[in-house]
Amino acid sequence: MRFVVGIGVAALASSFSAPVVAEETIKVGVVVEMSGPFAPYGHQITYGMRAYMKAKGDKVAGKKIELIVKDTTGPAPDLARRLAQEMVMRDKVQFLAGFGLTPNAMAVASVATEAKVPMIVMNAATSAITTKSPNIERVSFTLPQVTAPIAEWAAKNKIKKVYTLVADYAPGLDAEATFKKVFTANGGEVVGALRVPLKNPEFAPFVQRIKDAKPEAVFIFTPAGETAVAFMKAFAERGLDKAGIKLIATGDVTDDDVIGAMGDAALGVITTHHYSAAHKSPENDAFKKAYADVAGPNTRPNFMAVGGWDGMHLIYEVANKLGGRIDAGKALAAAKGMTIQSPRGLIVIDPVTRDVVQDVYVRKVQKVDGKYFNVEFDKLAKVKDPGKS
Ligand code: PHB
Repeated sequence: MRFVVGIGVAALASSFSAPVVAEETIKVGVVVEMSGPFAPYGHQITYGMRAYMKAKGDKVAGKKIELIVKDTTGPAPDLARRLAQEMVMRDKVQFLAGFGLTPNAMAVASVATEAKVPMIVMNAATSAITTKSPNIERVSFTLPQVTAPIAEWAAKNKIKKVYTLVADYAPGLDAEATFKKVFTANGGEVVGALRVPLKNPEFAPFVQRIKDAKPEAVFIFTPAGETAVAFMKAFAERGLDKAGIKLIATGDVTDDDVIGAMGDAALGVITTHHYSAAHKSPENDAFKKAYADVAGPNTRPNFMAVGGWDGMHLIYEVANKLGGRIDAGKALAAAKGMTIQSPRGLIVIDPVTRDVVQDVYVRKVQKVDGKYFNVEFDKLAKVKDPGKS
């Protein structure tokens, strides 16, 4: 009898202590690319998240926020799903977050649904992602949202014939389709379309084909990073700029993180996007300072970093509204229609699509104080994902 009571007390003690510990922290399971060719994405996103925590304190609603970061090593849907499942089952994370690449976000959607965990997408930008689980909120952007403005801009600026080149995976196909639709609706013509592999494309032959077709401009989407640098190099080496062919793109291509590596080849390129480190606002100044505090002096945040920062902001707001007790249904309701003062401007979580409504800026690559920046010169206000509105 004493033996039985002994066990009962131990069991009682552990069943009391476990939930108390769990309730003192809010765990965020971060699924990101921390190694391999897309490693910068994971680092930028997590630095953005940590910068927010450092600037605002790591406690919200009386609970400590804890990040558990897992590396997908690149576009690896099966691994991303397994990592998310482990964090939900073993670590009992209350949020899933991160997602630089679309294939990883797509793969984790079903985990968010089954485990009833809110999933905050901080970059992955294929339009359809938010339709894959009712528990997804996206704070970044969608490819159609930033592509439609450049297609309109091109048509209004007397560009009539464009060749398109995109990375051959979902975000690229979104960009290609949106560009064609909006550009032709505004009187332009797409004279050729190329799709290149996501990983390590060899651009020279593609770029030569474009040059031979003599379009007035090329529209490109490649995921941010070294691929974009490789394209820019091939574009300049094959002399497309000298042949008078303009380059237009989404801001992924002239990403703040690699624009310096592109050098003069990028000068004058017009892009449309939701964030530039050169954006002028007190919120952006504070963000840049907080980012440098965690990522190191002379580092510059990019659009992935701002996704991490704003995603964390959303998590803090939701946790506050729910008094720290996170439940997917209530978190979702709390986030719907939420407005956030982002370093990029005011953003709103669309209550119907759970995507972000935001200003999209038209920018030109220029040198400012000896450094390359996407300098904003025009903006389209409160842009929604055009495929969903
Ligand atoms: C994506 O995989 O969704 C993605 C990655 C990089 C970008 C944009 C979209 O620059």
